Amino acid sequence: MQQVSPSVAAARVLAGLRAKKQQRERIVALTAYDWLTASWLAHCPVDFLLVGDSLANVVAGHESTLPVTMDEMVYHTRMVVRGAGGVPVIADLPFLSYEVTPEAAVLNAGRLVKEAGATAVKLEGGAELAPTIERIVRAHIPVLGHLGLTPQSVLELGGYKVQGTHANDAERLRAHARAVQEAGAFALVLECIPGTLAALITADLAIPTIGIGAGPDCDGQILVTHDVLGWFDQPKKFVKQYAHCRQIATAAITAFAADVRAGRFPATEHTF
Ligand code: KIV
Repeated sequence: MQQVSPSVAAARVLAGLRAKKQQRERIVALTAYDWLTASWLAHCPVDFLLVGDSLANVVAGHESTLPVTMDEMVYHTRMVVRGAGGVPVIADLPFLSYEVTPEAAVLNAGRLVKEAGATAVKLEGGAELAPTIERIVRAHIPVLGHLGLTPQSVLELGGYKVQGTHANDAERLRAHARAVQEAGAFALVLECIPGTLAALITADLAIPTIGIGAGPDCDGQILVTHDVLGWFDQPKKFVKQYAHCRQIATAAITAFAADVRAGRFPATEHTF
């Protein structure tokens, strides 16, 4: 078999996502923000890793994703790419890195590819950003769209609320989804919308939909890895915790502290 480089392997996986939709094979994605996480996730059955700007909340302790900078996204994406092997890494374009002009959007998307090694970029928004998506795609950079609850619009939305619950909002979101597809996005994240609406959008589109809080009928699912692993005490409604890492880690550190205080660590076998 011909050997291909990790970046070519990653690009092929992304190019194959549409076929997965056609074959009704569900797509699985998770977030990663650092090398360690990417290096073990790369050995799990995931289709792609997202360096989400959710790193603002999850690793930087911000209240929203608005403070994230391009330099921070480049830094985190580089770490993830170093660990990801041939698994595609998609990097978020942060707030105000793509809304002002399509030219700036292309240059910033280019930084995530050239400086950090991302396979694709993600941006939040609909028809208003179609010309920007087209420009980035014309620069040969694959774009993942993101509609529904778009956290970078939190000031306009007035909080993190389920979107598309009224009939006219739902129709508007369906039109935006079609515009994102027409503009050339290869897939679309649907965040926090009713499952019935996500099913309609998924049926409308030829490109795959990746849901987060959007019910079971999307073509794939993405979650924040830290949520899946139970690093937070209060899981959101749409999250299922598959482990309780916060409890496991707290118990481990409590045992370490007790051993140190009791003189049980280090023992002879840990001593030179
Ligand atoms: O920033 C992020 O992690 C995301 C996903 C939750 C879709 O946008």
